[in-house]
Amino acid sequence: MMRSEPRAVQLNEHGQLKHFLTLDGLDKTLLTEILDRAESFLSMGEQSVKKVPLLRGKTVVNLFFENSTRTRTTFELAAKRLSADVINLNIETSATSKGESLLDTLKNLEAMQSDMFIVRHSDSGSAHFIAEHCTPNIAIINAGDGRHAHPTQAMLDMLTIRRHKGGFEGLKVAIVGDILHSRVARSQLQALTTLGVSEVRLVGPKTLVPSFFAEMGATICHDLEAGLKDVDVIVMLRLQKERMKGALLPSESEFYRLYGLTVETLAWAKPDAIVMHPGPINRGVEISSEVADGKQSVILDQVTNGIAVRMAVMSMAMSGQLQSADSSAAGEEK
Ligand code: CP
Repeated sequence: MMRSEPRAVQLNEHGQLKHFLTLDGLDKTLLTEILDRAESFLSMGEQSVKKVPLLRGKTVVNLFFENSTRTRTTFELAAKRLSADVINLNIETSATSKGESLLDTLKNLEAMQSDMFIVRHSDSGSAHFIAEHCTPNIAIINAGDGRHAHPTQAMLDMLTIRRHKGGFEGLKVAIVGDILHSRVARSQLQALTTLGVSEVRLVGPKTLVPSFFAEMGATICHDLEAGLKDVDVIVMLRLQKERMKGALLPSESEFYRLYGLTVETLAWAKPDAIVMHPGPINRGVEISSEVADGKQSVILDQVTNGIAVRMAVMSMAMSGQLQSADSSAAGEEK
Protein backbone atom coordinates (compact mmCIF):
# COMPACT_ATOMS: atom_id res chain seq x y z
CA MET A 1 0.00 0.00 0.00
CA MET A 2 1.26 3.52 -0.88
CA ARG A 3 2.11 5.68 2.13
CA SER A 4 0.76 9.26 2.27
CA GLU A 5 3.29 12.08 2.68
CA PRO A 6 3.97 12.81 6.38
CA ARG A 7 2.82 16.43 5.93
CA ALA A 8 -0.55 15.30 4.54
CA VAL A 9 -1.03 12.85 7.41
CA GLN A 10 -0.01 14.99 10.38
CA LEU A 11 -1.51 18.40 9.47
CA ASN A 12 -5.20 19.27 9.17
CA GLU A 13 -6.75 21.36 6.39
CA HIS A 14 -5.73 24.58 8.22
CA GLY A 15 -2.04 23.53 8.41
CA GLN A 16 -2.31 22.76 12.16
CA LEU A 17 -0.91 19.64 13.82
CA LYS A 18 -3.42 16.84 14.34
CA HIS A 19 -0.76 14.12 14.81
CA PHE A 20 2.97 14.53 15.57
CA LEU A 21 4.89 11.87 13.66
CA THR A 22 8.02 13.48 12.26
CA LEU A 23 9.66 16.89 11.77
CA ASP A 24 10.02 16.12 8.07
CA GLY A 25 7.98 18.73 6.17
CA LEU A 26 7.24 20.97 9.18
CA ASP A 27 8.29 24.59 8.64
CA LYS A 28 10.12 27.06 10.87
CA THR A 29 6.90 28.87 11.83
CA LEU A 30 5.32 25.69 13.19
CA LEU A 31 8.50 24.59 15.03
CA THR A 32 8.77 28.07 16.58
CA GLU A 33 5.11 27.92 17.64
CA ILE A 34 5.83 24.63 19.48
CA LEU A 35 8.84 26.21 21.23
CA ASP A 36 6.90 29.36 22.17
CA ARG A 37 4.01 27.36 23.54
CA ALA A 38 6.40 25.09 25.50
CA GLU A 39 8.07 28.18 26.94
CA SER A 40 4.69 29.30 28.29
CA PHE A 41 4.30 25.93 30.07
CA LEU A 42 7.77 25.95 31.65
CA SER A 43 6.96 28.33 34.50
CA MET A 44 3.93 26.21 35.39
CA GLY A 45 6.27 23.49 36.69
CA GLU A 46 7.38 25.85 39.46
CA GLN A 47 3.84 26.66 40.65
CA SER A 48 2.18 24.80 43.54
CA VAL A 49 -0.74 23.70 41.31
CA LYS A 50 0.84 22.33 38.14
CA LYS A 51 -2.31 21.89 36.06
CA VAL A 52 -4.23 23.53 33.21
CA PRO A 53 -7.54 22.19 31.84
CA LEU A 54 -6.57 22.00 28.14
CA LEU A 55 -7.07 18.20 27.91
CA ARG A 56 -9.77 17.87 30.58
CA GLY A 57 -12.13 15.00 29.75
CA LYS A 58 -9.67 13.54 27.20
CA THR A 59 -8.14 10.07 27.47
CA VAL A 60 -4.47 9.63 26.62
CA VAL A 61 -3.01 6.12 26.25
CA ASN A 62 0.75 5.58 26.61
CA LEU A 63 1.69 2.67 24.33
CA PHE A 64 5.37 1.86 24.79
CA PHE A 65 6.33 -1.28 22.88
CA GLU A 66 10.00 -0.47 23.62
CA ASN A 67 11.60 0.48 26.94
CA SER A 68 11.76 4.08 28.11
CA THR A 69 12.40 6.07 31.27
CA ARG A 70 12.37 9.77 30.28
CA THR A 71 9.93 9.84 27.37
CA ARG A 72 7.23 7.68 28.95
CA THR A 73 7.35 9.45 32.31
CA THR A 74 7.41 12.97 30.90
CA PHE A 75 4.54 12.20 28.50
CA GLU A 76 2.54 10.95 31.49
CA LEU A 77 3.39 14.03 33.54
CA ALA A 78 2.61 16.31 30.58
CA ALA A 79 -0.79 14.66 30.03
CA LYS A 80 -1.64 14.91 33.74
CA ARG A 81 -0.58 18.59 33.85
CA LEU A 82 -3.00 19.15 30.95
CA SER A 83 -5.71 17.44 33.11
CA ALA A 84 -6.12 14.39 30.81
CA ASP A 85 -6.98 10.91 32.07
CA VAL A 86 -3.90 8.77 31.40
CA ILE A 87 -3.66 5.02 30.84
CA ASN A 88 -0.24 3.35 30.70
CA LEU A 89 -0.71 0.07 28.86
CA ASN A 90 1.77 -2.44 30.23
CA ILE A 91 2.79 -4.23 27.04
CA GLU A 92 4.47 -7.11 28.91
CA THR A 93 1.27 -8.01 30.77
CA SER A 94 -1.11 -7.06 27.91
CA ALA A 95 -2.77 -9.45 25.45
CA THR A 96 0.07 -8.68 23.00
CA SER A 97 1.90 -11.52 24.78
CA LYS A 98 -0.98 -13.85 23.73
CA GLY A 99 -0.45 -13.03 20.07
CA GLU A 100 -2.83 -10.08 19.61
CA SER A 101 -1.74 -7.94 16.66
CA LEU A 102 -0.85 -4.26 16.99
CA LEU A 103 -3.92 -3.21 15.00
CA ASP A 104 -6.27 -5.39 17.06
CA THR A 105 -4.84 -3.91 20.28
CA LEU A 106 -5.38 -0.40 18.87
CA LYS A 107 -8.94 -1.17 17.70
CA ASN A 108 -9.79 -2.22 21.27
CA LEU A 109 -8.29 0.96 22.71
CA GLU A 110 -10.26 2.96 20.10
CA ALA A 111 -13.44 1.21 21.29
CA MET A 112 -12.68 2.56 24.78
CA GLN A 113 -13.09 6.07 23.26
CA SER A 114 -9.47 7.11 23.59
CA ASP A 115 -8.48 10.54 22.25
CA MET A 116 -4.69 10.25 21.92
CA PHE A 117 -2.11 7.47 21.57
CA ILE A 118 1.51 8.10 22.52
CA VAL A 119 3.46 5.42 20.65
CA ARG A 120 7.00 4.09 20.99
CA HIS A 121 7.90 1.14 18.79
CA SER A 122 11.08 -0.51 17.54
CA ASP A 123 9.82 -0.49 13.92
CA SER A 124 10.58 2.61 11.84
CA GLY A 125 7.33 4.03 10.41
CA SER A 126 5.07 2.47 13.05
CA ALA A 127 3.58 5.79 14.25
CA HIS A 128 2.79 6.79 10.66
CA PHE A 129 1.21 3.36 10.04
CA ILE A 130 -0.97 3.72 13.15
CA ALA A 131 -2.06 7.25 12.15
CA GLU A 132 -3.20 5.88 8.78
CA HIS A 133 -5.08 2.90 10.25
CA CYS A 134 -6.73 4.33 13.38
CA THR A 135 -9.95 6.32 13.55
CA PRO A 136 -8.91 9.75 12.25
CA ASN A 137 -10.03 11.65 15.36
CA ILE A 138 -7.41 9.96 17.58
CA ALA A 139 -4.21 12.03 17.74
CA ILE A 140 -1.07 9.91 17.32
CA ILE A 141 2.14 11.21 18.87
CA ASN A 142 5.41 9.52 17.92
CA ALA A 143 7.51 8.82 21.03
CA GLY A 144 10.31 7.23 18.97
CA ASP A 145 10.03 4.71 16.10
CA GLY A 146 13.00 2.51 15.28
CA ARG A 147 15.83 4.58 13.86
CA HIS A 148 13.39 6.86 11.99
CA ALA A 149 12.29 9.75 14.23
CA HIS A 150 11.97 11.03 17.78
CA PRO A 151 10.34 14.40 17.13
CA THR A 152 9.46 15.44 20.71
CA GLN A 153 13.05 14.64 21.81
CA ALA A 154 14.39 16.89 19.04
CA MET A 155 12.00 19.69 20.01
CA LEU A 156 12.94 19.52 23.71
CA ASP A 157 16.57 19.68 22.57
CA MET A 158 15.74 22.78 20.47
CA LEU A 159 14.05 24.40 23.48
CA THR A 160 17.14 23.67 25.59
CA ILE A 161 19.45 25.18 22.95
CA ARG A 162 17.25 28.27 22.54
CA ARG A 163 17.10 28.87 26.29
CA HIS A 164 20.87 28.55 26.70
CA LYS A 165 22.02 30.22 23.47
CA GLY A 166 19.19 32.73 22.86
CA GLY A 167 18.40 31.44 19.33
CA PHE A 168 19.77 29.36 16.47
CA GLU A 169 21.37 31.78 14.03
CA GLY A 170 25.15 31.36 13.66
CA LEU A 171 25.34 28.28 15.92
CA LYS A 172 27.65 25.36 15.18
CA VAL A 173 26.37 22.05 16.53
CA ALA A 174 28.24 18.73 16.76
CA ILE A 175 26.29 15.47 17.15
CA VAL A 176 28.75 12.76 18.18
CA GLY A 177 28.57 8.97 18.28
CA ASP A 178 26.22 6.36 16.86
CA ILE A 179 24.45 8.46 14.21
CA LEU A 180 23.57 5.42 12.06
CA HIS A 181 21.06 3.95 14.54
CA SER A 182 19.87 7.24 16.02
CA ARG A 183 16.31 8.50 15.51
CA VAL A 184 17.29 11.42 17.75
CA ALA A 185 20.09 12.51 15.38
CA ARG A 186 17.78 12.33 12.35
CA SER A 187 15.09 14.46 14.02
CA GLN A 188 17.65 16.90 15.47
CA LEU A 189 19.24 17.39 12.06
CA GLN A 190 15.82 18.22 10.56
CA ALA A 191 15.01 20.65 13.40
CA LEU A 192 18.41 22.37 13.42
CA THR A 193 18.47 22.94 9.64
CA THR A 194 14.84 24.17 9.62
CA LEU A 195 15.52 26.57 12.51
CA GLY A 196 18.59 27.95 10.71
CA VAL A 197 21.78 27.01 12.58
CA SER A 198 24.94 27.71 10.62
CA GLU A 199 26.40 24.16 10.69
CA VAL A 200 25.56 20.67 11.93
CA ARG A 201 28.52 18.27 12.15
CA LEU A 202 27.96 14.55 12.51
CA VAL A 203 31.00 13.07 14.21
CA GLY A 204 32.00 9.42 14.64
CA PRO A 205 33.63 6.43 12.97
CA LYS A 206 32.84 5.70 9.30
CA THR A 207 30.82 2.63 10.30
CA LEU A 208 28.46 4.76 12.45
CA VAL A 209 28.42 8.01 10.40
CA PRO A 210 27.67 7.05 6.79
CA SER A 211 28.27 9.65 4.08
CA PHE A 212 24.60 9.75 2.95
CA PHE A 213 23.84 12.07 5.88
CA ALA A 214 25.64 14.83 3.92
CA GLU A 215 22.59 14.86 1.60
CA MET A 216 20.50 15.97 4.60
CA GLY A 217 22.64 19.09 5.01
CA ALA A 218 25.20 17.87 7.57
CA THR A 219 29.00 18.04 7.55
CA ILE A 220 30.48 14.58 8.09
CA CYS A 221 33.51 14.35 10.37
CA HIS A 222 35.44 11.25 11.43
CA ASP A 223 37.92 13.08 13.67
CA LEU A 224 36.70 14.29 17.09
CA GLU A 225 39.06 17.27 17.38
CA ALA A 226 38.02 18.63 13.96
CA GLY A 227 34.38 17.89 14.76
CA LEU A 228 34.38 19.76 18.07
CA LYS A 229 36.50 22.73 16.99
CA ASP A 230 34.66 26.00 17.83
CA VAL A 231 31.22 24.41 18.28
CA ASP A 232 28.56 26.03 20.51
CA VAL A 233 26.59 22.85 21.20
CA ILE A 234 27.70 19.23 21.60
CA VAL A 235 25.15 16.41 21.54
CA MET A 236 26.59 13.06 22.66
CA LEU A 237 24.78 9.88 21.66
CA ARG A 238 24.80 6.42 23.17
CA LEU A 239 26.03 3.37 21.22
CA GLN A 240 22.79 1.53 20.37
CA LYS A 241 24.16 -1.98 20.68
CA GLU A 242 20.64 -3.44 20.59
CA ARG A 243 20.24 -2.18 16.98
CA MET A 244 23.76 -3.08 15.77
CA LYS A 245 24.13 -6.00 13.38
CA GLY A 246 27.70 -7.21 12.90
CA ALA A 247 30.92 -5.72 14.23
CA LEU A 248 30.67 -1.97 13.71
CA LEU A 249 33.17 -1.12 16.46
CA PRO A 250 36.51 -2.61 17.56
CA SER A 251 35.56 -2.17 21.27
CA GLU A 252 33.87 0.26 23.67
CA SER A 253 37.24 1.28 25.11
CA GLU A 254 38.58 2.07 21.63
CA PHE A 255 35.43 4.12 20.90
CA TYR A 256 35.90 6.06 24.15
CA ARG A 257 39.57 6.70 23.35
CA LEU A 258 38.73 8.10 19.90
CA TYR A 259 35.30 9.72 20.42
CA GLY A 260 34.63 9.99 24.16
CA LEU A 261 33.79 13.43 25.60
CA THR A 262 36.16 14.11 28.48
CA VAL A 263 37.42 17.30 30.13
CA GLU A 264 40.34 17.23 27.67
CA THR A 265 38.29 16.74 24.48
CA LEU A 266 35.58 19.20 25.59
CA ALA A 267 38.30 21.90 25.57
CA TRP A 268 38.32 21.70 21.72
CA ALA A 269 34.82 23.28 21.66
CA LYS A 270 34.05 26.93 22.50
CA PRO A 271 34.59 27.65 26.22
CA ASP A 272 30.84 28.30 26.69
CA ALA A 273 29.70 25.27 24.67
CA ILE A 274 26.82 23.35 26.21
CA VAL A 275 26.87 19.55 26.51
CA MET A 276 23.68 17.65 25.75
CA HIS A 277 22.66 13.98 25.72
CA PRO A 278 19.17 12.55 25.14
CA GLY A 279 19.86 9.73 27.61
CA PRO A 280 20.30 7.09 28.74
CA ILE A 281 23.95 8.02 29.21
CA ASN A 282 26.69 5.38 29.39
CA ARG A 283 29.44 6.86 31.55
CA GLY A 284 32.92 5.92 30.38
CA VAL A 285 31.61 4.78 26.97
CA GLU A 286 30.66 8.05 25.22
CA ILE A 287 31.00 10.60 28.05
CA SER A 288 33.00 10.93 31.27
CA SER A 289 31.25 11.50 34.60
CA GLU A 290 33.15 14.79 35.05
CA VAL A 291 31.61 16.16 31.85
CA ALA A 292 28.14 14.62 32.33
CA ASP A 293 27.90 16.20 35.79
CA GLY A 294 29.99 19.30 34.96
CA LYS A 295 28.96 22.93 34.69
CA GLN A 296 28.62 22.86 30.88
CA SER A 297 26.20 19.93 31.02
CA VAL A 298 22.50 20.73 30.41
CA ILE A 299 21.43 17.08 30.32
CA LEU A 300 18.92 17.36 33.17
CA ASP A 301 17.52 20.65 31.76
CA GLN A 302 16.64 18.62 28.66
CA VAL A 303 14.53 16.29 30.82
CA THR A 304 12.67 19.17 32.51
CA ASN A 305 12.09 20.88 29.15
CA GLY A 306 10.64 17.62 27.83
CA ILE A 307 7.52 18.02 29.98
CA ALA A 308 6.77 21.49 28.58
CA VAL A 309 7.45 20.46 24.97
CA ARG A 310 5.22 17.41 25.30
CA MET A 311 2.46 19.56 26.84
CA ALA A 312 2.79 21.91 23.85
CA VAL A 313 2.64 19.15 21.24
CA MET A 314 -0.26 17.30 22.91
CA SER A 315 -2.37 20.45 23.33
CA MET A 316 -1.68 21.56 19.74
CA ALA A 317 -2.54 18.13 18.29
CA MET A 318 -5.77 17.93 20.29
CA SER A 319 -6.75 21.43 19.17
CA GLY A 320 -5.94 20.50 15.53
CA GLN A 321 -8.14 17.39 15.85
CA LEU A 322 -11.06 19.45 17.19
CA GLN A 323 -10.69 22.09 14.42
CA SER A 324 -10.62 19.31 11.84
CA ALA A 325 -13.80 17.75 13.28
CA ASP A 326 -15.53 21.18 13.32
CA SER A 327 -14.59 21.77 9.66
CA SER A 328 -15.88 18.32 8.66
CA ALA A 329 -19.15 18.90 10.54
CA ALA A 330 -19.60 22.35 8.92
CA GLY A 331 -18.93 20.79 5.48
CA GLU A 332 -21.56 18.10 6.08
CA GLU A 333 -24.17 20.71 7.12
CA LYS A 334 -23.79 22.71 3.87
N1 CP B 1 15.71 10.10 25.33
C1 CP B 1 14.93 9.00 25.43
O1 CP B 1 14.17 8.69 24.51
O2 CP B 1 15.04 8.34 26.63
P1 CP B 1 14.11 7.11 27.06
O3 CP B 1 14.47 5.96 26.18
O4 CP B 1 14.41 6.88 28.51
O5 CP B 1 12.69 7.54 26.83
